[in-house]
Amino acid sequence: MTLNLDGYTDLPPGKIASVVTYLEMLERAPERPGVAEPGFEVRRVEGPTVDWYVDLFRRVGGPWLWWGRLSEPREELQRILRDPGNEIFELWAGDRAEGLLELDRRDPSNVELLYFGVTPEMVGRGGGRMLMDFAIARVWDGGARRFWLHTCTLDHPGAVDFYVRSGFKPFRRGLEIAADPRLCGLLPVDAAPGVPLL
Ligand SMILES: CC(C)(COP(=O)(O)OP(=O)(O)OC[C@H]1O[C@@H](n2cnc3c(N)ncnc32)[C@H](O)[C@@H]1OP(=O)(O)O)[C@@H](O)C(=O)NCCC(=O)NCCS
Repeated sequence: MTLNLDGYTDLPPGKIASVVTYLEMLERAPERPGVAEPGFEVRRVEGPTVDWYVDLFRRVGGPWLWWGRLSEPREELQRILRDPGNEIFELWAGDRAEGLLELDRRDPSNVELLYFGVTPEMVGRGGGRMLMDFAIARVWDGGARRFWLHTCTLDHPGAVDFYVRSGFKPFRRGLEIAADPRLCGLLPVDAAPGVPLL
């Protein structure tokens, strides 16, 4: 297959594609006023079990076809989750975790926001802002000079705006082509109905 950089490219069956936007923050952004619903709390989860993590990852990311962590072999995911430089936080919403913040702080001066989001029921209720304010404080209090992430067009349509309002600036664009995670059993076939299964 040849990628046409000036037009359309048909994908082989079973593949999905997205446009990826990379964003970075090179100095600490000001905190935004808190609006989170009562009962929300950000908590560190040290060395979570694979089952706990996969359940939260699916509930947050399944509707947006997040597959990254689901394709890792179980032992590799266990190793990642136990790595102290890979920091995991939950948005606690009274009786269970409803949001995920995962930071790669193996190099505390150049931190990647690996996974970030709340479950569909929580969108627009202040939890995302609370998690982001927490992330910015954690990263910059920890001596960062750069905080960066990427998001793609399969994610929530408001994600790029949310990150820009949070103080990130777009700096690069790319394409990601991958096997459809619903066809290889990583996610249910009815996930993300807005992206037809072909
Ligand atoms: C992108 C995402 C994290 C945004 O989180 P969210 O919980 O919807 O965002 P919030 O409700 O905290 O904040 C949205 C805005 O509404 C405002 N808001 C929320 N509740 C409010 C309330 N009760 N009163 C007034 N304003 C409120 C917030 O202040 C915020 O405004 P700001 O950005 O100008 O500060 C969320 O849509 C999400 O998790 N999506 C799915 C996963 C995903 O796509 N992740 C990102 C890609 S990796």
